[in-house]
Amino acid sequence: MGLDFEYIQGQTPLDEDEKDGLLIPIIATRGELDEFEQQNIEQAIQWTLTRSLKPKTILTEAFVCSVHKRMYGDVWRWAGTFRKTNKNIGVDKWQIPVELKYLLNDTLFWIDHKTYPPDEIAVRFKHRIVSIHCFPNGNGRHSRLMGDIIIEKVFNRPVFSWGAADLVKQGDNRSAYLTAIKAADAGNITPLLIFARL
Ligand SMILES: Nc1ncnc2c1ncn2[C@@H]1O[C@H](COP(=O)(O)OP(=O)(O)O)[C@@H](O)[C@H]1O
Ligand SMILES: [Mg+2]
Repeated sequence: MGLDFEYIQGQTPLDEDEKDGLLIPIIATRGELDEFEQQNIEQAIQWTLTRSLKPKTILTEAFVCSVHKRMYGDVWRWAGTFRKTNKNIGVDKWQIPVELKYLLNDTLFWIDHKTYPPDEIAVRFKHRIVSIHCFPNGNGRHSRLMGDIIIEKVFNRPVFSWGAADLVKQGDNRSAYLTAIKAADAGNITPLLIFARL
């Protein structure tokens, strides 16, 4: 049952809206798109692995956008640029730069003042940035990689598991993840903190 469902999901053709800005015209289905994106994301991870990065570098709009560009720049024309339309998730499109600036400043403050333990700083950052929803797509994966960059580069700790399963596909793990995100929206960060280290 589960397998059939995922197979069908992967075969779903992309609609015209979803194809907007696609740089690789041969991509026709959701499954093919996931694969190309995943390859691109792996290059972005390789890039971050080989670098030492300071909080003052990481916690800038330019760096946040450059990570998104490295993750999706081979696949999407709009990679690394803020969303120009409103969505059911995220702040109003005009509020993106200012809300992001608040988050970057808050996070630098938390780091300087040790306001929260390291995992909690990275997970709070991840939660806030995905709720801003800076980009047209790819925000979930971008927010998790940003959380990994913060925990590894700023605090010298191992990267998160994020539930240790593919969160892009539908399934129990994605439901558990979204439940934890919703708890964080309501002010309880603990479920997402636990999920991040499962
Ligand atoms: N109600 C919700 N439903 C789906 N995703 C949500 C919801 N609330 C917050 N999110 C976040 O938005 C992300 C999906 O945004 P999207 O830009 O499509 O990212 P991605 O393409 O990497 O999955 C999820 O991974 C999750 O972190
Ligand atoms: Mg998406």
